[in-house]
Order: sequence, then structure tokens, then C-alpha cells
Amino acid sequence: MAQRTLIKNIKYCYTSNESPPVKGHDMSKIDVFDNVNILIEDDRISKISKNPIEEPGLDLIYDASGLICVPGFIDSHTHLVFGGSREHEFAKKLAGVPYLEILKQGGGILSTVKQTKNATFDELYRQAKKSLDEMLLFGVTTIEAKSGYGLSLDTEIKQLEVLRKLNETHPIDIHITYLGAHAFPKEYENHRSDFIQQIQSDLKIIHQKGLAESVDVFCEVGVFSAEETKKILDTAKSLGFKLRVHTDEIESIGGTLVALDLKAKTVDHLMALKEEDMALLAKSDTIANLLPSTSFFLNKEYAPARKMIDAGVALAISSDYNPGSTPSENYQLTMQIAANKLRMVPTEVLTAATVNPAFSLDISNTHGKISVGYKADLVLLDVNNLDYFLYHYGINHTKAVFKSGRLVVDHRQLLEEEL
Ligand code: NIG
Ligand code: FE
Repeated sequence: MAQRTLIKNIKYCYTSNESPPVKGHDMSKIDVFDNVNILIEDDRISKISKNPIEEPGLDLIYDASGLICVPGFIDSHTHLVFGGSREHEFAKKLAGVPYLEILKQGGGILSTVKQTKNATFDELYRQAKKSLDEMLLFGVTTIEAKSGYGLSLDTEIKQLEVLRKLNETHPIDIHITYLGAHAFPKEYENHRSDFIQQIQSDLKIIHQKGLAESVDVFCEVGVFSAEETKKILDTAKSLGFKLRVHTDEIESIGGTLVALDLKAKTVDHLMALKEEDMALLAKSDTIANLLPSTSFFLNKEYAPARKMIDAGVALAISSDYNPGSTPSENYQLTMQIAANKLRMVPTEVLTAATVNPAFSLDISNTHGKISVGYKADLVLLDVNNLDYFLYHYGINHTKAVFKSGRLVVDHRQLLEEEL
């Protein structure tokens, strides 16, 4: 017998009903329904109605009077699994030492690599699970998460296996990405092509073991050049991996063109994106994945979101949660910074937090909308309307979260028996 839940008296329901990738000004097209009832059967939405739904034998009736409902948020760029943390570099950062300079001195990503190598599987699992719990409390029901703090096969595999186990045990769905090309290990500094070859051969092992669905590279000055990025992504694509690329974060060195050429699912960061690349992005199905919390924490420029929207680009917004450039799991804050600093209107932000990231993860037929047949991944927010949700910033507005039809958060608390 199917598990059936009724969510009744929802004040407003907000969802995009556009087909993704939702580009440019279409991103502001959001359907709003007032006084809605939603019936869930097992993990799917089976009925949406303004009239009361009278069904005998329901397992749960949730009264959502005074609450708004949005699709579960999809945070499509995180670095969830890592050892330790990096607050010891905070003073340096505050004194103005640039992010890439800290990395050059052996800190930054390389400091997390050391801490991740030294951490056991269980330590990594426990730390990442705590973060996932936080994310769920903020209404995130699906994430993408990368390795990238091993830079050697064994530690990369350890991270990927932690992600696999979390995907099996935690309500949040995890799309797993291999980011072996996140930085150059010190010992390879003068043997760059050897490291590229190493990654190309490691890719085959990651593929054989089925440990990741996507591959990412950090294409940036002093990290991986466009040419090196292309070599790695070519191999990844030929093995059947999907592609995502960190690019144009600090300088634009051609990563976006490589990504577009290989039909990558996303290009991520884009604070330094060139206008001519915007036009190419707009013509493609590649999602521009903007990470405004990273600009905030690094005290950097914000990506030119308004220009991108005017150019017809499809945007997603992600947290980039990681120990260095964005140590915060608060996806609602990311959305609020997107509104305030990227100057995206609330409806555009919602599209960028739901349908477009779903498209980038190849799950847009089942996730990212409130629609019959879609997964019942739903967030009830204790606010009067969507504008207020993005306006009253910095706090958690979640009242309840349904993941695959199950109530997993209520009264802003995790329901332990479900986890
Ligand atoms: O997306 N830019 C590269 N990688 C991450 C940061 C990783 C770290 O600093 O640990 C990012 O910001
Ligand atoms: Fe990142």
C-alpha cells in the first residue's frame, strides 16, 4: 500500500513550469498558486488542487496554513567532503593575501589536501554528514559534491566512497563528481604533464569502479591551463563522464570555450567571464553556475548576472560549500546574496535554485518543479511570500522539508527517526 501524505492549506505555491534550460528573461517566469493542497503518494506528487482533497486512510496530514511551498533546493556545486578546516588562514586572508597566493605558499587547497589525507573514512563521513544535515535544514534536497582534496588516487577514492555511502544513507540525493584536477601537488610543480597523465589514467580507474558521474577541473591562472583542462576533459568525455568546469573565477583563460566545445553541463564561478563568451553561452545548453557566496567570502567581484540574463544565458546558483572560499552550508544565504549582489529578482533566483540546476544534473524530468508526477521534494517556508524569503536575510526560514515524500524536517528540526 502506497504511503500517502496530504499537505493542506498551503498559502502560496511557487514553481517554474518552463522547460529547462530556462534562459535569460524567462527565468523570472514563476507560477504562483494560492491556497493549494498537495497529495503525495510514495515519493511522488500525485495531485495538486485548490479544492480540498478528501482521501480516506491518509498516513499523514500536514497543515501548511500560513506557509509557502517551493521545490526542494538543488545546490549543484559543493565540495562537501574534506578533512579539518582552514580558520588558521583567516588572518592572512583578512590582511589581504590573495587566495591564489595562499595556495602558492602551500596553504589553501593544499592545506585541506593534507588534512584530508590524514583523516580516516569515518572522520570524513561524520564531518560531511553534519554538513549534509545543515543543508537539509536549509531546504536543500539534492546536491552535487566533488572530490578534489586528495590529488592522489587513494585519497580521491576515499572521498568518493564517503560520498557514495552518504548518498545511500542520507535523505539528500548526491550527484558525485571527480575533481582530481583541483590543484597541482607540490611534487608535480615542475612535472605538470606527468600529473595530467596521472589524472588521465586515474580517470579510467574511477570509471571502472563507477565512483563518479561527472568530472570537473579548476581552470585558472597558476592552476590548470585551458590546454591542460581540455586534455583531462577530453579523456573524461571519451569515458562517458559528464563535465563541469571551475572557470573564469579570477581570470578568463579560455576554460569557458573548452567547456562549451565539449558540451559541459556547467561552467562555474564566471566572475571574470568575457562578454563575447556570454553570447556563446546563451546559444548553448550549458548552465552558468554562479557562486555568489564565494565572491562574498573572498571579497571579490560578483559575476555579471544581469548582463548574462540580458544576453539570454541560463543561470543556476550554488553554494560552493568548501573549507576555503565558502565555509558555509547556508544555501538560503547564497540565494539572498544572489538577489542582493547579483541583482537577480526573487523569481529568477528560484529558477536558478530549482529547474536549472536540475537540468545541469540531468534530473529535470523528475526534480525541480512542483508538478504531478515529480518527486515530492518540497520545502515549506515560514514566510508570507517569496519576496520576503529573499529579503529577510541570514536566518533559516524553513518550517518543514519533504524529501521523496517523507517528512524529514519539521519545526526546523531534523526528524531523527528518518535519518
Ligand atoms: O570553487 N576554486 C577552486 N575550488 C574551490 C575552493 C576550494 C578550496 O579553497 O578549498 C572553489 O572556490
Ligand atoms: Fe568550487
